Amino acid sequence: MSNHKPADWNPNSWQDKPVSQQINYGDQEALEDAIKELRQLPPLVSAIEVDNLKAQIALAQEGKQFILQGGDCAESFADCNADSISQKVRLLVNLSLLLAQKVNKPITRVGRIAGQYAKPRSQLMETKLDESLPSYRGDLVNHVHFSESARTPDPQRMLQGYSYASLTLNYIRAMLESDLNELFQLDSETQALRNLKQAEELHQSIRQYQQMAQMFHRVNGAQATPQGLKEFYTSHEALHLHYEQALTRQSANGNWYNLSAHFPWVGMRTASANSAHVEYMRGIANPVAIKIGPKMASEQLVNLCQTLNPNNEAGRLTLIHRFGHKEIQAKLPAMIQAIKRAGVKVLWCCDPMHGNGRLTNQGIKTREFEHIQSELTQAFGIHQQEDSILGGIHLEMTAEAVMECTGSSYQVNESELSQAYTSLVDPRLNMSQAFELIDSLDTSIQNSLQICQTKP
Ligand code: PEP
Ligand code: CO
Repeated sequence: MSNHKPADWNPNSWQDKPVSQQINYGDQEALEDAIKELRQLPPLVSAIEVDNLKAQIALAQEGKQFILQGGDCAESFADCNADSISQKVRLLVNLSLLLAQKVNKPITRVGRIAGQYAKPRSQLMETKLDESLPSYRGDLVNHVHFSESARTPDPQRMLQGYSYASLTLNYIRAMLESDLNELFQLDSETQALRNLKQAEELHQSIRQYQQMAQMFHRVNGAQATPQGLKEFYTSHEALHLHYEQALTRQSANGNWYNLSAHFPWVGMRTASANSAHVEYMRGIANPVAIKIGPKMASEQLVNLCQTLNPNNEAGRLTLIHRFGHKEIQAKLPAMIQAIKRAGVKVLWCCDPMHGNGRLTNQGIKTREFEHIQSELTQAFGIHQQEDSILGGIHLEMTAEAVMECTGSSYQVNESELSQAYTSLVDPRLNMSQAFELIDSLDTSIQNSLQICQTKP
């Protein structure tokens, strides 16, 4: 079990720091009541699972494993149903099979799921016609409907969020213990996968896994699977610190763990050195991630890494870069060099989504597939050039046949966006686009692998 106990930290020490993206609850007593109730409830994940994930991230830092993290930008309570959950899990599992072929490494699957309910917003107020109301901040805080009562933060939503996260996770665990072949099904959109260059390889890989799974099953009994296919980890942005704190528990050896998810991250808007969010993350023993954007200076990043990982523990810290396709080339190399000079152990992960957002003339948020693809390809190339390892990909995606991101072979154009747009916040790749993206990772990865393999 990892040992991570900063001396001058406690689960509420964040409360003495400036809290950006603060949620203003009018009724403090109602907030206290909800927190008190939440503190009594059992954790959602276990410290051992959290430590197992940390060990896998440590392997990914050495280039022996690869992390695929993905899911909705904002999960909704309404999506807590069997069909929606199983589609999300099956998308991640199947995409990981294709990715495994591309990077030639075992994949660790991490969902933005079972708790991705709180959102940071650039504009804390939203105005429609003459009315200004608090922005939608995720189902954990308020309701997306544009009315005063819906947008008023309600602390009881934290308890609902806990329950929905728990129901979601329970169903995921049940799915992973059931018939493995069901995990491989991609029913509704298999059509959309036909056009892919690697479609045949993907199906062959799925068949191989099925055969291996059946063989394992015969030899080792029902619990065993090849390549840890039953392992699945959860993650969300640790934005709502009252919620996170209430689910922070001390283990027998004195470490504090956030047991609402395996892998919490700090968003770009809350990742400054003296922030309440960094203070909270500093003391928990989970593997943690920070999102870094173009405004982050290299020295600032190195300081943050030292704050979050003072013992330079392997697997502890992931840097998720999200610069946008235009800025990655100008920003990333200097950051990689600064981290190397400082001798800080990190896992580099690319989020090619959040730096590529734009608004259409109709005011719809979108991202162009080709920009996402370009950033991801550039990321592999830059890490290769800098003799560094890109060990993870972070995507916003859904198994639903939405049209939220433009372009790709799916040929979504701007005028079609409003026809199938269900995201509550940011635009996601649909299943076909997610497969196309991973499928297109050919030459850049092959080149970087060859270079890695020729190293002593
Ligand atoms: C997100 O991941 O949904 C998000 C808001 O990201 P970022 O903090 O990188 O903007
Ligand atoms: Co998002």
